[in-house]
Amino acid sequence: MGFVVSVIGVFVVVIVVANGERNYVGPRFTVEPRGKVQFYNSTGAIVPCSASGVPLPTVSWIRQDGSPVHEVPGLLQIRPDASLVFAPFRPDDFRQDIHSATYRCTASNAVGIIGSRDVNIRAGGLLIFSL
Ligand SMILES: *[C@@H]1O[C@H](CO)[C@@H](O)[C@H](O)[C@H]1NC(C)=O
Repeated sequence: MGFVVSVIGVFVVVIVVANGERNYVGPRFTVEPRGKVQFYNSTGAIVPCSASGVPLPTVSWIRQDGSPVHEVPGLLQIRPDASLVFAPFRPDDFRQDIHSATYRCTASNAVGIIGSRDVNIRAGGLLIFSL
């Protein structure tokens, strides 16, 4: 009897594992950021990115060289929903590596990883856009 139960137990585990694998779905962007985002220093900007998949993908941001984007207090924040938030800034606080840079959103889960198009950020005063 104990043998029968343990055999059934093994089968149940195998079925659950196989089922789980069949349900895996690779990441897909539900919101892919635009290729170009321009904003004024006084307004700031929010750049959303989100993805679907099973298991739910982890969404994050990288720089052009592939290194992860880190938050910069007062200038750049990454929201829990993975949106990139550029705060309004004083002209003195302009930083090329933040305000005039190329970013890329990535989404990864157990199936794989995908990357968004390049997202070119250009921030500044009126002058910047007339150059
Ligand atoms: C943006 O820059 C202008 C001058 O170029 C400045 O007057 C304004 O205060 C700045 N905005 C912020 C939020 O600092």
